[in-house]
Amino acid sequence: MLIPVDLGSRSYTIAVECGALAMVGDHLRPLGLGGKAVLVSDAAIRRLYGTRVAESLTTAGFSVTELDVPEGEPAKSLAVAERCWDALLSAGIDRTSTVLALGGGAVGDLAGFVAATYMRGVNFVQLPTTVLAQVDASIGGKTAIDHPRAKNLIGSFHQPRLVVVDPATIGSLPEREYRSGLAEMVKHGCVLDAGYFDDMERSAAALLGRDLGHVERLIAGSCRLKARVVEQDERDAELRNVLNYGHTIGHALEAASEYQRWTHGEAVALGIVAEARLAHRLGEATADTVARQRALLEALGLPTRIEGVDPAVVLAAIKRDKKARDGRIPFVLAPEIGRFRLVTDVKDDDVLAALGA
Ligand SMILES: NC(=O)c1ccc[n+]([C@@H]2O[C@H](COP(=O)([O-])OP(=O)(O)OC[C@H]3O[C@@H](n4cnc5c(N)ncnc54)[C@H](O)[C@@H]3O)[C@@H](O)[C@H]2O)c1
Ligand SMILES: [Zn+2]
Repeated sequence: MLIPVDLGSRSYTIAVECGALAMVGDHLRPLGLGGKAVLVSDAAIRRLYGTRVAESLTTAGFSVTELDVPEGEPAKSLAVAERCWDALLSAGIDRTSTVLALGGGAVGDLAGFVAATYMRGVNFVQLPTTVLAQVDASIGGKTAIDHPRAKNLIGSFHQPRLVVVDPATIGSLPEREYRSGLAEMVKHGCVLDAGYFDDMERSAAALLGRDLGHVERLIAGSCRLKARVVEQDERDAELRNVLNYGHTIGHALEAASEYQRWTHGEAVALGIVAEARLAHRLGEATADTVARQRALLEALGLPTRIEGVDPAVVLAAIKRDKKARDGRIPFVLAPEIGRFRLVTDVKDDDVLAALGA
């Protein structure tokens, strides 16, 4: 399935298909880019999927340099970016060359940042291998490294020229990692598309069983929803806030538990439940709308009960969120499944009640 992302001169295609990693070269060739490519990955991902991508690029006529970065979040540092710039220079990479990111969101963010900054920007391609990266991080052009004091603080917008999503790669994901990615798909349904949410409800068992037919259809559906939002708000001015559903409280739960207790997706699942409850408390959503969100998350094996954290500590973390404006925190609420409303005047007591209920 080919999903267009219409951004004028920065438009690109998301190709979603099982087995697509073996066809990256075919997708890339028509773009008329230079002959040099750098494939950025971590050692574990390269062992699993590197050969098929490198062979596909070589067959399509590209000369390929392979570059390994650390696994996970440690890749997103200035020291690693600097090593990458050095490697690009040594490989003779120029403005016509292409940097490809093969891996999870961390490899994508780091390689995207390197591609955005080297020679003021070279071609960039996303080859995401986690659910989170496939339906979220690889689409939209946000790239970043971390500052020792804040995640994602140093970065830029740099749209990819192409995104190739191979849903078969989820076969090797650890169970917790896999389910965590599903939380972002639920998020898309809750605030953007009731029909998509229905489909997830009907397909929950197949999704949990990683049935590739269902996984491919629903990952493609989620990519399309994210692409529509990015098309309307490329630079994260207003509408893109909708993608923060479940994240205002989710991020605060992660921070309040020092990023130890829940994965990002688990915290987002809990955030969705609490923000759904908040919408109900504010008279914005029915009890049934809340119950359906919780039930779907539960059916996907995600946590839905916030236990063992002090609501006051979570509230304090919400107030430190970088999205807070003049001390007021914008919340995205789902008045009904598939719709959203942005509110900025939520009272502390209502947030505490939603967390504690
Ligand atoms: N740019 C954006 O718009 C955006 C959006 C959301 C998240 N992010 C970023 O994404 C990052 C999180 O990404 P993530 O959840 O993909 O985790 P990750 O990139 O940290 O990867 C987690 C682990 O999974 C492994 N892995 C990846 N694919 C695998 C596969 N198919 N099989 C087995 N193991 C595999 C990796 O080697 C790594 O050890 C964070 O840094 C976050 O800030 C960016
Ligand atoms: Zn998220």
